Amino acid sequence: MIIASNFKTNYTRGSAKAFIQAIQAFIANTKSEQQVRIFAPFTALDRFDEVETLKVGAQNFYPVQNGSFTGEIGFEQLEEFGIQTVLIGHSERRHILKESQSLSAQKYDFAKARESEIIYCIGEPAEIRVQGIDAVMSYLWEQFEGIDISYDKLIIAYEPVWAIGTGLTASLEDIEEVLTRLRDKLCAPLLYGGSVKVENIETILHVNACDGVLVGTASWNENAFCEMIRIAD
Ligand code: G3H
Repeated sequence: MIIASNFKTNYTRGSAKAFIQAIQAFIANTKSEQQVRIFAPFTALDRFDEVETLKVGAQNFYPVQNGSFTGEIGFEQLEEFGIQTVLIGHSERRHILKESQSLSAQKYDFAKARESEIIYCIGEPAEIRVQGIDAVMSYLWEQFEGIDISYDKLIIAYEPVWAIGTGLTASLEDIEEVLTRLRDKLCAPLLYGGSVKVENIETILHVNACDGVLVGTASWNENAFCEMIRIAD
């Protein structure tokens, strides 16, 4: 089971240090080594020096090694911190930052060429969900345009947009229906994300075809995140 925490725009370089130390100490007493991922902000990536029990990831990057792209982070700058995994296609980048499918595909090709693990996020907004499962699936498949689904370091995170940060978790039936349909065509591990918390993680992890979770809000508390790791262990 993969348990990933996405810090989003939270934690400073200072506050991330205590969190990482606590999680690392906890994982050392579990079977979850290398199953936990933390997607920290760029400003805290140096806090993962010598952390070996979990994988450290980047929430974003621009698909270049380096160059003239003011305000962006290139892959060379991430590699210096020993990044092992990257998030691509997160709904906040697609919807708030207006990133196109074409840019997600460019990032994907770039990270794949560098043999990085990729957690590729897909998810439908509420107005698509109310149209039923066929509409949801065709919306989700469009988010695979330009994406090589045979990549062996690909992990998919299914995150309904309306469930992210809202406290509204998709029903177990809805999660299972989507993951099962994805599983028919994809070999990659499948994660669910969207208001996962201590109270619901166990039942979500028991959903057929679910290989783990991507957690935002509820993971920004070290005791809660440790408890989620324990439940998944
Ligand atoms: O990357 C994580 C997801 O956006 C889920 O966030 O757990 O706050 O709903 P959330």
